[in-house]
Amino acid sequence: MNLDFAERVGRVEPSATIAISNLSAELEADGVDVVDLSVGEPDFPTPGNIVQAGKEAMDAGHTGYAPSNGIPELKEAIVDKLDADGLDHTTDEIIVTPGGKQALYEVFQTLIDGADGPRPSGSGTESRSGDEVVLLDPAWVSYEAMTKLAGGSISRVDTSGHGFQLKPVLDDLAETVSDETELLVVNSPNNPTGAVYSDAALEGVRDLAVEHDVAVISDEIYKEVVYDVSPTSLGSLDGMGDRTITLNGFSKAYSMTGWRLGYFAAPEDLVGQAGKLHSHSVTCATHFVQHAGVEALRNTDDAVVEMRDAFHERRDMLVDLFADHGKDVAVPDGAFYMMLPVPEDCEALRASETGDEPVDQSWCEGAIEDAHVATVPGSAFGTPGFARLSYAASAERLREGVERLADEGYL
Ligand SMILES: Cc1ncc(COP(=O)(O)O)c(C=O)c1O
Repeated sequence: MNLDFAERVGRVEPSATIAISNLSAELEADGVDVVDLSVGEPDFPTPGNIVQAGKEAMDAGHTGYAPSNGIPELKEAIVDKLDADGLDHTTDEIIVTPGGKQALYEVFQTLIDGADGPRPSGSGTESRSGDEVVLLDPAWVSYEAMTKLAGGSISRVDTSGHGFQLKPVLDDLAETVSDETELLVVNSPNNPTGAVYSDAALEGVRDLAVEHDVAVISDEIYKEVVYDVSPTSLGSLDGMGDRTITLNGFSKAYSMTGWRLGYFAAPEDLVGQAGKLHSHSVTCATHFVQHAGVEALRNTDDAVVEMRDAFHERRDMLVDLFADHGKDVAVPDGAFYMMLPVPEDCEALRASETGDEPVDQSWCEGAIEDAHVATVPGSAFGTPGFARLSYAASAERLREGVERLADEGYL
């Protein structure tokens, strides 16, 4: 049968990271030892107390549907966590989702209209484009896809010329954000750069959001993974409480990627609208997993600190290793990623055919084929010229990865 696919799925491409993981899988199937620095998940097991809580919840029979927006115990634990971050929410302002990604998807679908949506008042008679979403590049891959799936249009502000910091580009942001902007996405600590935005930068965002009456997603999924800094929650700033959607999840801080648990907190009317999408799509996040989430939020601080300390040590080690090879990187203050500038005079690349693809794509493909080190091209995040490395890998593997890159002429 010739299936007639919906136009919306044609708007998005498979992730560029898939090309890398396919190459990696092919090599590994041939018995090659690949140092995988492309993954976005902690390499630690889920802390034992969380696993135990999940098992006990199953034994206790929490295997049926849960209340659609989340079990009360988890929503209360989330309210307490948000309160500690200076965010004032009630349990009615929270939706618990199967992963932070689903939370984001629901928010984009709830706020963003496509070109066939209602015309904004005063916009004249000319044909309308989809609602504008402003992204700060480099931006995590799925924001773009989610905007496109909702039919929105994207405007971008690039932070890469300023060590991936937001403050130096506030003027650019001021030129980009307008009364037409529907949504601004802020992700600090950032994937892929590890940058943590300063309070002054966030205040600049606040001023623009208030001036132009824009809603803001604050994706705080890496908030617990920070080194010697303490990131401010955007929604805690004056004027932001009723326009911020705070997104978080359990994947990164608690090493719970496969459990699929996340949430967002937002004004109650947004939660009411998004709740319709939520109940008609996923119904609820897995019931016993939500009980494990309560344990994570209530009793897992020590394990979070242990993982954070390990990432901190690896970050320092990786920065030093690159420095030994004459490579300066923007030192990340959080998450477990780092952006390596792809050398323009890379000998290994000159030797190979790069064709028309961006140089970082060729570098990443070459690095995996020749050095057997998997990384993700910066162009996947809107920032060509860099490769994203994850240091959610052991110190030994990180050392091995850098050595291989150097030996094969990729540094
Ligand atoms: C910036 C950012 N936000 C959200 C997510 C979603 O994570 P999950 O769906 O596992 O909670 C990720 C995952 O990589 C991420 O990097």
